[in-house]
Amino acid sequence: MKSFLNVEDLGNLKEALREAAEIKADRFKYDTLGKNKTLLMVFFNNSLRTRLSTQKAAMNLGMNVIVLDVNAGAWKLETERGVVMDGDKSEHLLEAIPVMGSYCDVIGIRSFAGLTDREYDYAETVYHQFLRYSGKPVFAMETATVHPLQAFADLITINEQTPSNSPLKGARGKGQGAREDQLSEQSSCSLPPAPCPSIKKEVWRGSVPKVVLTWAPHPRSLPQAVPNSFAQWMLAADVDFVITHPEGYELDPKFTQGARIEYDQRKAFEGADFIYAKNWSCPGVTRPEDYGKILHDYHQMMHWTVDAEHMSWTNNAHFMHCLPVRRGMIVTDDVIEAPSSLVIPEAANREISATVVLKHILQSL
Ligand code: CP
Repeated sequence: MKSFLNVEDLGNLKEALREAAEIKADRFKYDTLGKNKTLLMVFFNNSLRTRLSTQKAAMNLGMNVIVLDVNAGAWKLETERGVVMDGDKSEHLLEAIPVMGSYCDVIGIRSFAGLTDREYDYAETVYHQFLRYSGKPVFAMETATVHPLQAFADLITINEQTPSNSPLKGARGKGQGAREDQLSEQSSCSLPPAPCPSIKKEVWRGSVPKVVLTWAPHPRSLPQAVPNSFAQWMLAADVDFVITHPEGYELDPKFTQGARIEYDQRKAFEGADFIYAKNWSCPGVTRPEDYGKILHDYHQMMHWTVDAEHMSWTNNAHFMHCLPVRRGMIVTDDVIEAPSSLVIPEAANREISATVVLKHILQSL
């Protein structure tokens, strides 16, 4: 695998879920695969989970790791071609990338959308520059339009909550492994307000779980990478997938083709087994001039915040969010702290998704 942006880059999804379960059972099973190989993680934006989990994944595989925070100690990088560099940017990405590539075997990129130029963002310009000029395999650690390591971890988490007879289970054994991990996590987690995950139920109303991606309010303009990838990965999995958001926030059909869109949040929540909350700014699909904008004052949108009443409309759904999350905006304290909240297992599974992805890349070197 030379590039990891989209779900199809990983190949067979059920096989990838089987590999995730294998690695979760023994995360050091492939600890010599990365011997004498170096991962360079390049961050143009902040991170907690991606930074730690991807580094841990590389260590699981025996790799060396270099982390570059572009905005903390490196020369300020120009990313646009054809500009006169008479400002504060001392180095061009087109020299910096091959230099970085000369020190490593694999590169991970975190580079968020600028949210001002839709064409530039949706072309994944920075990511493709790394792919073209580094000469090394590249993977997304959240780029302008996608966050596949997060979506894969989310799918692993949903899969772990899925009854053993569900098609989502793939090659996984009969309810072994992850469910037991969860129960042991629960027993060591008794001090509120830390979220305390547990298993709530064994059956869905339908033959497959109903998964709802819901927009929720936020005071700042956020990219669409997480909801884009979540939609793409849910549509590739065997779930009943619904997206709910206020009108104007339609995600790019490139990621949502085949999804049901329901503008009535209550209707969308009815019968849901998983509620995945996330804010995103206007994707500029129906009105390109609104790309990256917040369409309504968030004070008027607080009825979209996921609270206990919202969760009462569901089929005892699990709450999910990629983190970091703003409490009181996206979700209330009681919902995120409830035993049905999966925010911590999702974050923990970032190590697993990254280990599977790096394993695929190392096997293709
Ligand atoms: N979910 C996620 O990617 O978290 P970080 O931004 O902290 O890496």
